Amino acid sequence: MSSNVNSVANTLKVALLLCAVCSVVISGAAVLLKPMQTENQILDRNRNILVAAGLFDPAVNTNAEVQSMFERFNARIVDLDSGTFLSDEEAQRLGLNPQTYSESAARNDPAFSDALPGEQDTAKIRRRVRYATVYTIDNADGGFESVVLPVSGYGLWGIMYGYLALEGDGNTILGIGFYDHKETPGLGGEISNPRWQAQWPGKEIYTDADSDEVAFAVVKGGGQGPHQVDALSGATLTSRGVENMIAFWLGERGFGRFLNNEVKG
Ligand SMILES: Cc1cc2nc3c(=O)[nH]c(=O)nc-3n(C[C@H](O)[C@H](O)[C@H](O)COP(=O)(O)O)c2cc1C
Repeated sequence: MSSNVNSVANTLKVALLLCAVCSVVISGAAVLLKPMQTENQILDRNRNILVAAGLFDPAVNTNAEVQSMFERFNARIVDLDSGTFLSDEEAQRLGLNPQTYSESAARNDPAFSDALPGEQDTAKIRRRVRYATVYTIDNADGGFESVVLPVSGYGLWGIMYGYLALEGDGNTILGIGFYDHKETPGLGGEISNPRWQAQWPGKEIYTDADSDEVAFAVVKGGGQGPHQVDALSGATLTSRGVENMIAFWLGERGFGRFLNNEVKG
């Protein structure tokens, strides 16, 4: 009897049954938790946009406030090549919804992104999306109170993803926030430290308000004047990656044309 219970066939049956039960439990949990995960990702993205725009202070505000605070923003899709907002009809024709459009998915889709040749790939992101979601707080006079741009660039260990918020002049920085990166905690990871980010508000991107030339720099021992912030100590490569990221995304292959056409003056 006992030899029958311990037979190879029975052992295999029990192992297979256990595998089947476990895989059903795991896939069930993954399916059930997916909507919650998506909701949390959107909450985290919106929180970072608010932080970049200087509207959310993690020491004072709570996550419960994010959605109501975020209602002030309009999300619109920008065509980076023409440098203009897509009309609702154009966005619909392309199947793009600003609430759900994902730059990270578009980046891997040749229909929505292009490979960057080496000499153009100054932020080392390899591919550039054709469309990006921009978040604005609009003024009564048709201008903007703030314009929040998605930015990305390679640090030391991987691509850093964040949001850069500008004032309505398309030149003065309101703030920076990073929501995903692989830099070392305590070294390059300090890009997420509010104390380092506190240097950014008020700094300017371009040589002057009418210029297309990016003057913003992350400088070791620097941080003086209107265009510089101090680099992170012990993280020169990450700091250079941040500087390259800003130069790329505020330049002609990033949001340069869009800022000229839709935001500045
Ligand atoms: C374990 C380890 C992790 C590191 N992480 C980073 C990092 O996240 N960012 C960075 O720029 N440098 C990092 N570095 C340091 C770089 O290798 C390099 O020394 C540094 O960027 C030089 O910057 P410094 O001139 O400011 O010291 C790390 C080094 C070690 C050993």
